[in-house]
Amino acid sequence: MNDPNGPFFLDGTYHLFYQYNPAGMVWGPMSWGHATSTDLLHWHEESVAIRSTPNEDIFSGTVVYDSQNRSGLGSNATPPLLAFHTSVFHGDPAHPDDTQAQSLSYSLDGGAHWQAYEHNPILTLEPESRQFRDPSVVWYPQGQCWIMTTVVADAQLVKFYRSTDLLHWSFLSDFQPSGYRKPGMLWEMPLLIPLSLDGNPHDPRWVMIVSVNPWSIAGGSGVQYFVGRFDGTRFTPDALPPDGSDPSAYAWLDHGADQYATIRFDNTGTEAPLLIGWMNNWDYASALPTAPWRGQATLPVQLDLKTVDGRPTLTQTPTPTYEALIRRQGIAAFADRDLGPNQTWRAPMGGDVLDVRVTLHRGDATRAGIAVRQSPDGRTATVISYDFTSGNLTLDRSRSGEVGFSPRFSLVHIAHLSAPGGVLSLHVVVDRNSVELFANRGTLRMTDLVFPPAGSDRMSLFSNGGHTYFTGIRISAPAR
Ligand code: FRU
Repeated sequence: MNDPNGPFFLDGTYHLFYQYNPAGMVWGPMSWGHATSTDLLHWHEESVAIRSTPNEDIFSGTVVYDSQNRSGLGSNATPPLLAFHTSVFHGDPAHPDDTQAQSLSYSLDGGAHWQAYEHNPILTLEPESRQFRDPSVVWYPQGQCWIMTTVVADAQLVKFYRSTDLLHWSFLSDFQPSGYRKPGMLWEMPLLIPLSLDGNPHDPRWVMIVSVNPWSIAGGSGVQYFVGRFDGTRFTPDALPPDGSDPSAYAWLDHGADQYATIRFDNTGTEAPLLIGWMNNWDYASALPTAPWRGQATLPVQLDLKTVDGRPTLTQTPTPTYEALIRRQGIAAFADRDLGPNQTWRAPMGGDVLDVRVTLHRGDATRAGIAVRQSPDGRTATVISYDFTSGNLTLDRSRSGEVGFSPRFSLVHIAHLSAPGGVLSLHVVVDRNSVELFANRGTLRMTDLVFPPAGSDRMSLFSNGGHTYFTGIRISAPAR
């Protein structure tokens, strides 16, 4: 898989579609694969939902539950699900080769079967419809209409459209800030989300999330965002760093290397948006040492917007369904530890699937952290560490196991994070080939793929150059 596509919730089931090549392990003729789940964690693979044809690839997009049948494609008794996706045409006399245009497929049976809308494509770009893709649709209550965002990927711009029937779309505006853009950079998978700042309904903001490739903060592809206002026509970011600023001056959804094409679930009925991403990087996606598959999704998260260090910041925490799973699984609590210079504490429990939470309190150490997926001989580990002097949080996979399958597999990821009062909380979700870090209750997220040798199932805490006090040590592992 690559991008997650069109996730939605309906009648107790979460649906997830994804960019999928039914004929191979790497990117090829793109179709929408399909999976379903009741908890966002255990997924059942369904049959391919929307198939490519020799003349048309099905690229990324979103699904909207048209509960009031405003499109007229269903009925009031059977409201339709509408999948907006990009069609890429080749060898089709009706379209110049490599035309990218937005199309619609719909389902009247809860997402199991999809049929193409007879007037496809519903949106093209004049005079030349190229690199025009990734429709995302959100309801705009103030205007009683839907807003669609798409990109012209190589122009690094987002286009806004509106519709009241989901079939006819009229152009509103372009968003092309002078901010962080680079020659050759693609903008993909635009996502517009309303969120109130600090939970204050009188302070509504809109967040524009864009996947960028390459030149992301951790190298290769990654996800950045802008917080601003949307007035029904135009999105205006609240603030932009001066032109030519370092990428670290911009806001990034994830500071690890393996988060891309992040998308929101439709129709969840919850205030907090639920997101899921592709845990991968276009720099090395086709070279991953996995079989018989390539590509996986991130943990789903719940999104919030909070003021952090004076800046509106997206916070992300694993979904309530994840927390429920961990509680059911059981959580072991350990006594607080004061670790002296270069001391480590090895957890008496381990595993290649672990949930680890701990709070670090600054003593006189220079650096402290957690090592996960350690091999018994100590040679392999993925290391998360905080430098109390610089305020840099590092996720280091340079000794994590297999790293040589691509020269572009970046090894060390660093992000700045303040630790007010010298206190920093870390939540690490370790899985067989991934480490997902949520720091300071989701203020900073770092996601990295790792490929450790079998048996690398130890974890420990460490303190370097002085003392660090560790509290709230909680570990959860699935029963064996
Ligand atoms: C993002 C992307 C999208 C496109 C899809 C094709 O990863 O390049 O822009 O729709 O993947 O598979």
